[in-house]
Amino acid sequence: MEIIKSKKEMQAKALAWRKDGKSIGFAPTMGYLHAGHLSLFAQARKENDIVVASIFVNPMQFGPQEDYDAYPRDLERDSRLCAENGVDCLFAPDKAEMYEADFATYVQVEGLDNYLCGASRPGHFRGVTTVVMKLFAICQPNRTYFGQKDIQQLTILQRMVGDLDLPLEIRMVPTQREADGLAISSRNVFLSEAERKQAPAIYQSLALAQKLINEGEKDVDIIIEMASNHLHKNAPLGHIDYLQIVDAAKLDPLLKIEKPLVIATAVKMPGARLIDNIYMK
Ligand code: PAJ
Repeated sequence: MEIIKSKKEMQAKALAWRKDGKSIGFAPTMGYLHAGHLSLFAQARKENDIVVASIFVNPMQFGPQEDYDAYPRDLERDSRLCAENGVDCLFAPDKAEMYEADFATYVQVEGLDNYLCGASRPGHFRGVTTVVMKLFAICQPNRTYFGQKDIQQLTILQRMVGDLDLPLEIRMVPTQREADGLAISSRNVFLSEAERKQAPAIYQSLALAQKLINEGEKDVDIIIEMASNHLHKNAPLGHIDYLQIVDAAKLDPLLKIEKPLVIATAVKMPGARLIDNIYMK
């Protein structure tokens, strides 16, 4: 597997593959790879001639109070994992390579970032769409792979691809979980033992809401209250940032249960802010 640090070199390579008629599957990441990332590579491997992964901890998507400096990094281990999991080429630029000193262009999808994580992380999704647009231009993918775990990110990127007529596809890969249901995340390493013990209550509370909907409960407030109670009781170290049932396309909170919908939550533990969701078709 090749590791490329230069944008120009990566782009030239990708354009040459495309010229040869090869399809490129691309999975962007911020590294510290885990089973969630590996599932994106596996899906890309099945559907494309060439698999490209990127590792770049994108400063633009972190708020001033957020964990950019502390974000876990281990390029050596990550490159090994990429090589062992079907990646042909790893693009791993540094900050100065990605953003030149006079960088001044941003991509913003308006509206969808008013909700869920967008409400408490101003500027976050603008940072994501800007870097992903650049990565698409550099890596020239036919198909791109994103996790359901970050469903708002995926929904916003889908809108970007549609609105800007980008000639590529976005594929959603299901959330990979630990045996006890906790969604796998690079940030789980920041949880204390006590927090890690309580963290499965996050998915359980979403599953409880899903069960109530499947049983025919139509009152959104009742469902949210029961799910929140479960979380408060079983994860007292967590502070609920939001727990909402939203329209799957618009991401705005539903007043009555209508599918497709997403039950989504963000919980601030002392060690890390954790997100999870369940999509109901
Ligand atoms: P990162 O958090 O590293 O995630 C990279 C990709 O892995 C995203 O598409 C994310 O949804 C997916 N992923 C993370 N945990 C997952 C899990 N448990 N199961 C399945 N997929 C999972 O998301 C980002 O990086 C960045 O915002 C990025 C898109 C790279 C732009 O900087």
